[in-house]
Parts: sequence; C-alpha cells; structure tokens
Amino acid sequence: MKYSIIRDKTLDFADQGYADLYPNLHKYPATMLPQIGVALLKRLGISSGILLDPYCGSGSSFAAALDVGITQMFGFDLNPLAILITQAKFTKIAPAALDEARQKLREAVFEFVKKEKNLNRLELPNITNIDYWFSPAVAQNLNVLRYFIDQMEDQKIKNFFLVPYAETIRECSYTRNNEFKLYRIKPAEILSFNPDVFSAFFKKLTDSIQIYADYYFPKIQEETHLELRQAPFSAEVNPQQTFDIVLTSPPYGDSRTTVAYGQFSTLANEWLGVNEARKLDNALMGGKRVKRLYNQGVLEQTISQIAQIDEKRALDVSAFYFDLQDSIAQIAPQINPGGNIIYLVGNRTVKGAQLPTDQFIAEQFEQYGFKHQITYERALSSKVMPSQNSPSNQKGAKVNTMLFEYVIICEKDKSAG
Ligand SMILES: C[S@@+](CC[C@H](N)C(=O)[O-])C[C@H]1O[C@@H](n2cnc3c(N)ncnc32)[C@H](O)[C@@H]1O
Repeated sequence: MKYSIIRDKTLDFADQGYADLYPNLHKYPATMLPQIGVALLKRLGISSGILLDPYCGSGSSFAAALDVGITQMFGFDLNPLAILITQAKFTKIAPAALDEARQKLREAVFEFVKKEKNLNRLELPNITNIDYWFSPAVAQNLNVLRYFIDQMEDQKIKNFFLVPYAETIRECSYTRNNEFKLYRIKPAEILSFNPDVFSAFFKKLTDSIQIYADYYFPKIQEETHLELRQAPFSAEVNPQQTFDIVLTSPPYGDSRTTVAYGQFSTLANEWLGVNEARKLDNALMGGKRVKRLYNQGVLEQTISQIAQIDEKRALDVSAFYFDLQDSIAQIAPQINPGGNIIYLVGNRTVKGAQLPTDQFIAEQFEQYGFKHQITYERALSSKVMPSQNSPSNQKGAKVNTMLFEYVIICEKDKSAG
C-alpha cells in the first residue's frame, strides 16, 4: 500500500444514522454522515476558512462545516435536485414566514380545486411517459401544486417549497421508492395505489418547515455565505476564487453501475422544468465512454486485471477515473498553501478486483504539491451502507461489495504557489 491506511473505529458512528442529528429535507442517495465531517474538521483544528464541496449532493459537508464555525462555503453539483435541496437547507428564511406562506398556499389550492372546471384549465407539463409514471389524478394534482408554487413571488420561499414538492412527486409516482433507479411498481400494486397528493405534500411541507426550524435555521449566521452552482467544478469560472478546505464525498463509480443520481432525480427534475433530465446520468462522472484504458500509477494493475476478464467493463471503469483525474486537476491548484482536502470514498469491486480509489486520490493530489497525511478506514454501518440501497445495473439487485469507506486527507505544501 503506497499511502498508509489506519482503521479508525471512532469514525464508524455505528449507532448513528443520518437523521439522528441532521434530518434531511429530501431523501438523497449515498449521503455523507455529517458527524464524520465534524469529527474530521475538529481533528484537523479547522474552524474557519473557505470550504469547497465539488460534489455537494444534499449538502452534508456544509452541515458539518457550520457546526465547527465555518461560514464561507462553495458547492457544486450537476444534479439540479441536489442544488435545490442544499439551497433550501442553508438559506436563511424566518420559519414564521414559511408557515404563513404554507397556510396561504393551502387555502389557495383548496379553493381552486373546489371548481372542477379550474382543473381542466391547467395544461400538463412535458413529462416523458407521464401516464406510465403517474395516474391521471396524481398528475393533475401535482400540476395544481406546481401552478401555485410557480406563482410565489418570494424566490427563497418558493425554492424551499419545491423540496417537499419534489419528494411528493417521487412518492406519488409509480416508481419503486426503495430503489434509486427508475423502476415501476408491479401492475397489481398500481391498481391499489391511490395516493392523496395534497395531503402528502402539505404534511411534508409542515414537517420540512419543522426540521428546518429545529436543525438548520439556528445554525445559519448573519455572516454565513454559501454559493452554489449547478455545474461541475471548473477553475476557469472564477480563477481568483481559492479555498482552504475541500470536504467532499465524490461518486465512487459511474451512475450506470453504481449510484444512479440522475435516475433517482428524473421525475422531480422533469416536473421542475429541467431540460434533458433523462440525460443527467451520462453527464455525471464516468458517464461518457472512453476508448482507452486508464493504465497509470496505483490503478494500472487492477484495471488491467479487470480488462483481462472484461475489456468493456475495464473501459467503463477507466472513464470514471479519467473524469476524477480531470476534476482533481481543476480543484488542486485552487487550494491555498497549507490547505487540506478531505475526500470520503468507497473502493468498489469490479469483476472481483477491488479498485484502490483512496490510493488514486492521494496519488493525484500529490502531483499538485500536496502531501498525503493519512487515510482512515471506517466501517459502513448498516444504516448508511450504500450497498443496501444502490441497485446495480441488474433490476432489483443490490451491490454488496463495500464494507468500508476511506477518508483521504492531504495537505498542500505551505510554500506551494
Ligand atoms: C456521493 S454524492 C454526494 C452526497 C453528499 N455528500 C450528501 O451527503 O448529500 C455525489 C454527488 O456527485 C454529483 N456528481 C457526479 N458527477 C459530478 C460532476 N461531474 N460534477 C459535479 N457533481 C457531480 C452527483 O450528482 C451526486 O450528488
């Protein structure tokens, strides 16, 4: 092992789940336990500076950052739903204003639906195979909600309301809710599936306001500044912007064979008006096919081992590492001297060969004036194990290859320019 790994049981948080301390406003695949981020930032003595999460998902790194006193934060993610959730969690809005808007919306919606002819006035949005995923009544009621939320003038409140709306879309659709990929429930289940869209939405909205008021609002300070972009991190966008800390959990493979962030979010993204929502997974890391194998450094041996069994799979795997390499090449120069990167990853197994992603990350950062400090190994608890939730490319199948996660910590040379 080129870069040393220490097993650290204190990072297992075996008895804790995500919801224990940081309930999410919306389900999201492969979330990072914020407790881990808090423990690591404290261990490194970090309580200020500018933090970057280049794959921020639902924003767990920012929850950890706020807890240790960091106020300057930047997040990137290609998934519009991820940006929506993170924005809602960390934008300061008086809970009373949210509650007032909730009551107004409720009255307006129920007044509107009293008149049958109103319902037919609203044109349905362009959702792919709408009848396949939604009953006519569900689609109609989701459309009513969309119509009223769209009209809300306060953009911050509107954004917040779109989060429980997105979750209502998912829960009231025919998608199997315990899978990240888009699979429809069985025909027999469809016959008895008759969700009440309005009750589901308003209950979620009420619960979300409560969670926000209890767990997020009190932590957002006047000086808290979070900038979010729905894009891959690119140093070119703002070359002057530098960072002191990266805290992130990147994807650990492409969406096709690991976690399908795009498919998980497709229906919500389409209702939210995102163009080409169905193409999102191909745009995420490892989504574009490549024609050559990744055959350098710490990965060379494992990828050639996979190629001997299945060349196509080895190319898929290579595509992911080329993207991860490019991403690190963008991030590394933007980190200030003495700054730290903290990456949390899984080393997945493909065709019986375990890919040393942790080693790869350390190796890449070392090419840009960083020094590997330590890699911690933590056991995935049954509550947060991606293997339980991530469907592989086979329908209904579970990936069960990762029992540990790795926390890679590198520091940029203090004299690096
Ligand atoms: C493991 S998840 C992050 C989860 C997050 N830490 C949380 O707790 O919610 C990885 C994220 O990377 C995003 N992603 C994948 N490829 C990306 C890319 N090229 N640029 C930006 N984000 C990307 C996915 O949309 C997903 O939200």
